[in-house]
Amino acid sequence: MLRAAAAAVTAHTRWVDDFPSPGVRFADLTPVFAHGPAYSAVVAALASAATDAELVAGIDARGFLLGGGMARELGVGVLAVRKAGKLPPPVQKCEYSLEYGTAAIEIPDESPSLRGRRVLVVDDVLATGGTLRATLELLERVGADIVGVTVVTELEALGGRARLESYPLTSLVRL
Ligand code: PRP
Ligand code: MG
Repeated sequence: MLRAAAAAVTAHTRWVDDFPSPGVRFADLTPVFAHGPAYSAVVAALASAATDAELVAGIDARGFLLGGGMARELGVGVLAVRKAGKLPPPVQKCEYSLEYGTAAIEIPDESPSLRGRRVLVVDDVLATGGTLRATLELLERVGADIVGVTVVTELEALGGRARLESYPLTSLVRL
């Protein structure tokens, strides 16, 4: 299952040099998600990383496309981890550095209660790991039990995996 999904990702990823800034090589997964069989294979493979999950947390914005599909696959709910300023208070917030620039993400502080819930986290790409690191910090802060961290594509040269410490990380494609 993982191998077929990885092949679909490799076949449909569009690489864009010098976007969004000079020197950055951007992995555009839009064609992967727009291809029905590829999208289905990716969603099923990522969901299989933690079949005991009670909730899938997808990261703004491209992680949403995966998180909804994975939650449906597992028969559980989905949580949107939002870019700052989108959620009503109270929120938990964490700032982080991107491969390019800085940003902040937020989750609801109290509702839904995440204390003790088994959460599977998903994003499209792992680059420096700043986005996922901040997400995991937020989820830990509110007491969630992280049962898996999943991405479609891992850019190994940027060292993101090392920043995720001992969390169980699944990536379909490592480049
Ligand atoms: C991209 C990508 C990951 C993150 C990876 O998102 O979708 O979320 O960067 O980088 P990192 O591992 O260095 O943190 P981006 O913030 O560009 O926004 P988007 O998903 O809203 O397009
Ligand atoms: Mg993103």
